[in-house]
Amino acid sequence: MSINWYPGHMAVAAREIRKVMPTVDFVLEVLDARLPFSTENPLVNELRGDKPYVKVLNKSDLADPVATSLWIDRLEETLGVRAFAHTRDQADLAKRLLSVGRKMLPADRNPGKDVVVMILGIPNVGKSTLINTLAGRNLAETSNKPAVTKRQQTIPIAGKYLLLDTPGFLWPKLDPPDCGYRLAISGAIGAAAFEYQDIGPFAIRYFRDRYPQALKDRYGLTELPTDEVEILNAIAARRGCVRTGGVVDMQKVCEIVIQDFRRGSLGRVSLEVPE
Ligand code: G4P
Repeated sequence: MSINWYPGHMAVAAREIRKVMPTVDFVLEVLDARLPFSTENPLVNELRGDKPYVKVLNKSDLADPVATSLWIDRLEETLGVRAFAHTRDQADLAKRLLSVGRKMLPADRNPGKDVVVMILGIPNVGKSTLINTLAGRNLAETSNKPAVTKRQQTIPIAGKYLLLDTPGFLWPKLDPPDCGYRLAISGAIGAAAFEYQDIGPFAIRYFRDRYPQALKDRYGLTELPTDEVEILNAIAARRGCVRTGGVVDMQKVCEIVIQDFRRGSLGRVSLEVPE
């Protein structure tokens, strides 16, 4: 499977980001804690120069806490980067993300001037939810449909910060290709750009190797077959996805597994650990 998802508005967004970067004090990037590598935008490091970079590993309530902690250490190895695990119900921590960025600014910066924060995040990582928490009101539209926030908006926060909310955007090449699979599994890529039957076996292989007990517990399996299709067949039998004549509805069973992962029904599971 190859996913080449790069709608026109996202290309425009990338140009806009280049344009406004000189006016920005620091960058706040929202990542999905379950796949921080794939949800990170590789353009940002190149575009920010030496501006502070605060990374929010959001949805950490759904992620494997051990993997999240390893990611924080890994991300903070880069100069000027601070990383935090975060969930949507942590309003105090959300506000602290801004003060951490502020403290990283050069000492000779005019303290009376609003701190301009560029907030970035690809679709579905929880960027709109975080903006609403920071603003203390409902500003950014939230949805589990990718790419709902489209136009750039400027949001004043507590008379101290100006948030520049840029449209969710992905980079043109989803490379290495496994990133595309992980993004599709997480919901960052719209369902029109992939087939559940492609990403389901990929997800099952990964869960079998890393979280076998989670699969057994969720689907009531005492043994896990080695082959991913056999695992899907076993889940299908448990979940009523076998049609008359014994034909397995692969589309349906793959969708069930992916939705279970997205909702956290498999437990706290991450799709990536640092190499
Ligand atoms: P986006 O702007 O980055 O595209 O994402 P958005 O804030 O719209 O969030 C996408 C979905 O992720 C929303 O769910 C939102 O509630 C959920 N979400 C955001 N932050 C967290 C978090 O820390 N943990 C968990 N578990 N979920 C989070 P939704 O299904 O669209 O709506 P609803 O659940 O709010 O009704």
